[in-house]
Amino acid sequence: MNHEQATERLSKLRTEINLQRYNVHVLNKEDMSEAALDSLKHELTQLEQEFPDLITPDSPSQRVAGKAMEGFKKVTHQSRMLSLNDVFSYPELNVWEERTAKLLGQPYTGGYYAELKLDGFALSLIYIDGLFSQAVTRGDGFVGEDVTVNARTIEAIPLRLSQAVPGRVEIRGEVYIAKKDFAYINAEQEKKGLPTYANPRNLAAGSMRQLDPQLVANRRLSFFGYAVIGGKTFATHADEHTFIQEVGLPVEPHSQLCSTLPQIEQFLATWEEKRKDLAYQTDGAVINILDEGVFKELGVIGKAPRGAVAFKFSAEQTTTIVKDIVLRVGRTGAITPTAEFEPVRIAGTTVARATLHNADEIARKDIRIGDTVIIQKAGDIIPEVLEVVLSLRPSGTVPYLYPETIHGVPVIRRAGEAAHYVDVKAVEAAGSDEGDVVLSEILKRKIEHYASRGAMDITGLGEKVVARLVDADLVSSFAELYILTKEQLLTVEGFAELSAENLVTAIKESVDKPLAKLLFGLGIRHVGSETAITLARYLGVGIDHQLTFSDALNRLRTLTLDAFEKLPDVGPVVATSLFSYFQNPHEQAVLDQLVAAGMHAPLEPLQKVTVGPFVGKTVVLTGTLAAYSREEASDLIRKAGGKISTSVSAETDYLLAGEKAGSKLTKAEELEVAILTEEEFAGLL
Ligand code: IVH
Repeated sequence: MNHEQATERLSKLRTEINLQRYNVHVLNKEDMSEAALDSLKHELTQLEQEFPDLITPDSPSQRVAGKAMEGFKKVTHQSRMLSLNDVFSYPELNVWEERTAKLLGQPYTGGYYAELKLDGFALSLIYIDGLFSQAVTRGDGFVGEDVTVNARTIEAIPLRLSQAVPGRVEIRGEVYIAKKDFAYINAEQEKKGLPTYANPRNLAAGSMRQLDPQLVANRRLSFFGYAVIGGKTFATHADEHTFIQEVGLPVEPHSQLCSTLPQIEQFLATWEEKRKDLAYQTDGAVINILDEGVFKELGVIGKAPRGAVAFKFSAEQTTTIVKDIVLRVGRTGAITPTAEFEPVRIAGTTVARATLHNADEIARKDIRIGDTVIIQKAGDIIPEVLEVVLSLRPSGTVPYLYPETIHGVPVIRRAGEAAHYVDVKAVEAAGSDEGDVVLSEILKRKIEHYASRGAMDITGLGEKVVARLVDADLVSSFAELYILTKEQLLTVEGFAELSAENLVTAIKESVDKPLAKLLFGLGIRHVGSETAITLARYLGVGIDHQLTFSDALNRLRTLTLDAFEKLPDVGPVVATSLFSYFQNPHEQAVLDQLVAAGMHAPLEPLQKVTVGPFVGKTVVLTGTLAAYSREEASDLIRKAGGKISTSVSAETDYLLAGEKAGSKLTKAEELEVAILTEEEFAGLL
């Protein structure tokens, strides 16, 4: 970004952040999620660091919390109440470490102190000769508010230190509220028809600013100390924590000494996951230089000490910029639009693209190349574009429109369908070079699906490899995978002796994958993994020898449309698709090649299950399970006699609900379907 572009971007970011701030703090309404707003603020500070001459005194980056409010006595802090600089990624921690080394003139090796950062309200407690004398809010960092009467109601704050400490000592920490108390208070608010609080931090802050201490007492506030100011000096930050505890105040108990960055990363990775089990909300961790002498030497820049940073745990929402919208042709010829982003970290992973589903979706959200968008990764795996931040739209953008052709092939849309398609039939008929590009895209998708985890699960045959094989003209169907040689693979980019050998072996071994996996891998329209299982079971019925793949094929090719429709769980649409697939000469030629390649595809050990906890039961899975993948859990249920269904209905016997279960759980509760926790499920098995 050049100077001029940065000026424009900064001005837009400031306007938007100020507006959101006003909404939240003055109007009490939240327009944009906190996480998305944080992400804009982070972009602002990063950009200001890159162009320091563009920092203005009124930039949102230059402010510490809110202004002191009327109604409380103003108190000037003896030493400024600082804040911390945020980092959002491990590389940023590296940068911090390098900067420390540069400032010190040598690498720092004295270790770090990592502590969880509470999402609460900063408070400074002043004790004189051991007696609690004053509590002051941060305010603007220089002048805060005297909230002593309110702080007195918080039981975690001792009114006298448990050890005689002569003179003045100031202990800083965070007022917070436990998750369950937060839920309780919000429920009470709702009962009374009063507005609920957006998060525990707002509630803690709102409570500390109550003018009636009696109300504060009902708020179940608590406190963790994290710093000692004035009077005492300590050799390490750990000693400071020990002191706080020794004089009778609580500290967050999960702090850890770390000697190197990898250890810090380990701590962060652990808590990013485990924080959901804590009784209070934590939004990150503070990484401190352990050695207090070095911490002091590093000093303060702006409003933050150089010797500590706040690592923010990744949010489930963030903002990023759409660099491009690319259209991908799927294995059925359907076109899926994908937004490509500046990569961002979200809910623990880095995301660089998200599907935009279809043209209607793009139009409805008016997503344009160059737009700043809010992306979300809630619970599940797939990130989505929530909305465009319109105020940040650069000038000169245009609404995104689908091209009329892709690689020269007409793009069509059938009435009543959401997706656009490339006209495959027209391409096949025309036989043009341009059409070939599209056909080879479709072929890549088919092979990717065939090799995917839920289907034949061929290790080493991912997107990149498939693309290289197809582009090198080494395969023109998934059946041709089986005649690939190591020598051929060695001519392909990225392959060496060992990897080539491994792939050939993995492909060979896939002939023993169960029939249901193969049937799914064929990519027959409307035939998902469950239908494939039904079909495989049906084919095995009444056959007493080991069913071979050619037996199965012979049978499938003789089935009439009617016969397909009579299969359990197969409706007219699926039946038609199956019937035309097994009558289509193109497809059948590929299947013959599979037979020739030695495809075995045994039926799974199919003793019909008659005993087991799930015999005759239909089970739906939702959420994330800790000990099993979806596939594994499904297999276990089937082996115990059960059937898997994808949606909750009156026919459902059990809902197996993991972490972050969503709408299926609600539906199951409504229908009074028995809900199994993962533990209960394991117990039943
Ligand atoms: S140290 C000298 N340690 O997070 C800097 N802060 O994002 C003082 N916070 O202003 C902060 N837990 O209100 C520190 N263990 C912890 C903390 C913590 C929560 C808050 C504090 C601070 C803000 C910075």
